Amino acid sequence: MGATRVEIIGIGAGDPGHVTVAAVAALNRADVFFFLDKPDAARELSDLRQAILDAHVPGGGYRLARAQDPERVRTESGYGEAVADWRKRRADVCEQLMVEHLAPGETGAFLVWGDPSLYDSIISVVDDIRARGRLDFDVVVHAGISSVSALAARCGTTLNQVGGAVQVTTGRRLEQAWPDGVDDVVVMLDSRDAYLHFAEDPDVHVHWGAYVGTADEIIVSGPLTEVAEQIRETREKARQDKGWIMDTYLLRRRR
Ligand SMILES: C[S@@+](CC[C@H](N)C(=O)[O-])C[C@H]1O[C@@H](n2cnc3c(N)ncnc32)[C@H](O)[C@@H]1O
Repeated sequence: MGATRVEIIGIGAGDPGHVTVAAVAALNRADVFFFLDKPDAARELSDLRQAILDAHVPGGGYRLARAQDPERVRTESGYGEAVADWRKRRADVCEQLMVEHLAPGETGAFLVWGDPSLYDSIISVVDDIRARGRLDFDVVVHAGISSVSALAARCGTTLNQVGGAVQVTTGRRLEQAWPDGVDDVVVMLDSRDAYLHFAEDPDVHVHWGAYVGTADEIIVSGPLTEVAEQIRETREKARQDKGWIMDTYLLRRRR
């Protein structure tokens, strides 16, 4: 009997064509997929994961083990503490799934949106489970095409200007200040329209994309002074129509 394995597989940002050949091989090796379902409208994301399995493992033959993804509790005590608490509860849920559904010598897999290295907690969660010592397994991570790469490709642009640095950050951080030392800033997880803080700056250009790689993709590019309001209205309408939004943007200060 071989070692028990957990494969963490980046599946791209929504387009089944963005799954790498290595990821397809991993999808076809897995005995069981662990799905953490988000409540309500984000259920659509689970359907997209199933569409990726249907596209790349057409023969089926795998098992699905599902659980509700614990919700993050927004507390007074601060962002870091809330994330640590959420991560621990996710580890509890994932460990339980593995105990119940992964037999010794089998391979279990987590499908991770985009690339597992970028704003995703599954690698840390699996590390935490291993550190607890209750289960013994090997871990393999497969890179995926992140929404950042998908956005840049879709907009036909690079992320950095010649020889320059690029910073990937969150709406929460951008709202505080434009990061030091960079002219190119990629913003993810922005629930607060942080780009509006720079909407008067004539030197800033934006490439904005929502649901990139999916049938609902929306792209808006242009000088931020001209398109900021269009982006604000479009994301508000999209959020209302679908009930959720995933968008990423590149802000570029021209040198
Ligand atoms: C929890 S992070 C996961 C990022 C993911 N690991 C990646 O590599 O793209 C979720 C954020 O990713 C971005 N995102 C994910 N999928 C997207 C998509 N299809 N289009 C635009 N942005 C997306 C959004 O900024 C969203 O708030």
